[in-house]
Amino acid sequence: MTRTITRRAFLAGTAAALAAARGARADGNAPAVIAAVNDIHIKDAGDAALLERAVARLNTLEGLQFVAVLGDVATAGKREEMTPAFGALEALKVPCKILPGNHDVNPGAPDPFAEYRQVFSETRWTREVAGWTLIGFNSCEGAKSDVTVAAEELTWLKEQLAPIDPARPLALFSHHPLNPHTKKYRIKNADGILGLFARHNLRLAAAGHWHGNQVETDKGVLFTTTACCTPTRDNFDGTPQKGFRLFHLQPDGRITTEFVEVTPA
Ligand SMILES: [Fe+2]
Ligand SMILES: [Fe+2]
Repeated sequence: MTRTITRRAFLAGTAAALAAARGARADGNAPAVIAAVNDIHIKDAGDAALLERAVARLNTLEGLQFVAVLGDVATAGKREEMTPAFGALEALKVPCKILPGNHDVNPGAPDPFAEYRQVFSETRWTREVAGWTLIGFNSCEGAKSDVTVAAEELTWLKEQLAPIDPARPLALFSHHPLNPHTKKYRIKNADGILGLFARHNLRLAAAGHWHGNQVETDKGVLFTTTACCTPTRDNFDGTPQKGFRLFHLQPDGRITTEFVEVTPA
């Protein structure tokens, strides 16, 4: 099978960034590369084919160290929708962490995340990569699109931050966006969440949920949303490209990003 996956860049210096993605190594000088994939929206097992192609492309990136999946893996929060995604992600050569989205919950169940946990276990996590700490939190409020993140989740965030050196670069991941100027769906208590990081070195807040590429920098923090990675849904901005996002992390906290388009077979 010929795998033809094209790429689309959104930041200046893209050629250099792509070269870095191909050749970067975790040697302390080259940037570490991490990826975010969001809004996979599987209904049937065959819908995982685009994710499989994304995984195949990710596995070619020599400097890649970590993949975060930012929610909406499923469509109706069913285990049988999440299992094909789990199977596709198992082929990744690097560690991968998942976060739930509003389509991964069953708000009528005693535990809305019961089926999600059966497949992916964790609804929040932290990870150390190349001098950075990555923090993924659960932004869901039932199956709502416009959410207020629960106080219990904010407490967990505070607990994670407490022992972290204030100078250490941090990257924050969620399903719902924190972007100050997202076209829609900004977390209602986003300012309170970002305020938790006031004495820390937050450099990135990456999200999905709003299917489309949005990149902005505000007060030294890079905020992103990314096009969906699914054949079952469209992007909200009308763009046809599906894919994932790469981040190039420097040990000193500098960061660049690019969108990578993934095409169907
Ligand atoms: Fe979505
Ligand atoms: Fe969503």
